[in-house]
Amino acid sequence: QSRLPISLTVNGTQHAFEIEPWVTLLDLLRERLALTGTKKGCDQGQCGACTVLVDGQRINSCLSLAVSRDGAEVTTIEGLAQEGELHPLQAAFIERDAFQCGYCTPGQICSAAGLLAEGHTHTRAEIREHMSGNLCRCGAYTNIADAIEDVLQ
Ligand code: FES
Repeated sequence: QSRLPISLTVNGTQHAFEIEPWVTLLDLLRERLALTGTKKGCDQGQCGACTVLVDGQRINSCLSLAVSRDGAEVTTIEGLAQEGELHPLQAAFIERDAFQCGYCTPGQICSAAGLLAEGHTHTRAEIREHMSGNLCRCGAYTNIADAIEDVLQ
């Protein structure tokens, strides 16, 4: 079995791995690093539950082979809170009650963090468009958009 060496910086900590070339970034995060905040919903790129930030851009980690991210900086939901303070998006999701079961929430927040990183305001319609790849089976979409709007405006 051929394994390939890669290194990744995850939430500010550098890690070295020897992994099979078919391991997804999602499985690497969950199974090798026990960062289970990143969720596996569809495992097919359709639900957004697995969204993380790679070099500041959001991606579906279930569609990304870990070996293709050698040298990248990855931020997961566990890396957003800093020094015991919730990330503003996390606080806004709580404030706006922007979830019910919570399964999609890490992906929603990481996706919104990608939008926030663009550094400018967005209309409600632009927020909804940006977030359209993150499904919520509980239908909390209005509250999710409210929370993101609070932070982006
Ligand atoms: Fe990756 Fe659904 S688990 S998009």
